[in-house]
Amino acid sequence: MQSAVNLDPERNLALDLVRATEAAAIAAVRHLGRGDKNLVDGAAVDAMRPILGGVSMRGTVVIGEGEKDDAPMLFNGEQVGNGTGPEVDIAVDPVDGTTLTAKAMPNALAVVALAERGSMLDPGPVFYMEKLAVSGDFADAVDFEAPIERNLKWIAKAKGVAVEDLAVCILDRPRHADLVDRIRKAGSRIKFILDGDVAGAILAADPDHDVDLLVGVGGTPEGVIAACALKCMGGAIFGRLKPDDDDMRQRAVDAGYDVDKVLTIDDLVAGDNVFFAATGVTDGELLKGVQYRKGEVWTQSLSMRSRSRARRLVDTRHNLERSNLIVRPSGN
Ligand code: FBP
Repeated sequence: MQSAVNLDPERNLALDLVRATEAAAIAAVRHLGRGDKNLVDGAAVDAMRPILGGVSMRGTVVIGEGEKDDAPMLFNGEQVGNGTGPEVDIAVDPVDGTTLTAKAMPNALAVVALAERGSMLDPGPVFYMEKLAVSGDFADAVDFEAPIERNLKWIAKAKGVAVEDLAVCILDRPRHADLVDRIRKAGSRIKFILDGDVAGAILAADPDHDVDLLVGVGGTPEGVIAACALKCMGGAIFGRLKPDDDDMRQRAVDAGYDVDKVLTIDDLVAGDNVFFAATGVTDGELLKGVQYRKGEVWTQSLSMRSRSRARRLVDTRHNLERSNLIVRPSGN
């Protein structure tokens, strides 16, 4: 079916978005190890916003980082872009892994995703969702509502390996104690992540990495952003909103959300005109982190587009004096 909104087919906005995630990552790393996650987030947002402002689009921020914990934000509903070009939804996570960056730990990413206007799920009042992400090869082998033991068995069969050979990525949280116990009893390996389940979902969807699935409860905004990334990779993600309590559940229902529905990747982001960019903030399995060198800053990024399935790994050397992506700390 022809898409309702005509995004210029020749223009790969994911390449423009890389500049925004590079700027965010470079700014965030200035606050590496300072122990202040809001400082990390604020610097990344401030660096990302003007770059997004120069992109040829009429963007509306559908997913802005910050509401969950009052961090500084590119707020939901904010208009971004230079006011020309396609109308698009934007999801930003200037740093997925603010605490990781504040503590100088691995796997933090700066992330932006973009899709046709009206195509991204607005997370509404529900902060968390259950998630299951796999590579496209296993999309038909899993059932979101089945017990984890069965999904492990089915994935192992589809992959032609033993359940013991599988690696499951999961956020290291007390809420996952039962799930972790069951995965261990089933015999699979576990790759815990301290934060950053967007990267976890991408690792799970990419057969080149030693992660076969991501499961567990994480942020709803991050679920939508992961869906954008996985759409560009041909991966699969399923989810279900997980309200914290009855009050939140009622507010979600009143706002028109079906909190019992199993959400597919198309519910999270509709259509096949999705763009995604991420830059490593700290070193990780997916991307190298920002490195400050003499006269230069080095970054590594991923730029992806769903329609073409083009996936670019972008290594950039930014000149410290000349790059307009680098915000210099005051006093320098
Ligand atoms: P921030 O860095 O934006 O705070 O998010 C990190 C993160 O780990 C996400 O990747 C994940 O979806 C969410 O937080 C999980 O929430 P919680 O830390 O409350 O379990």
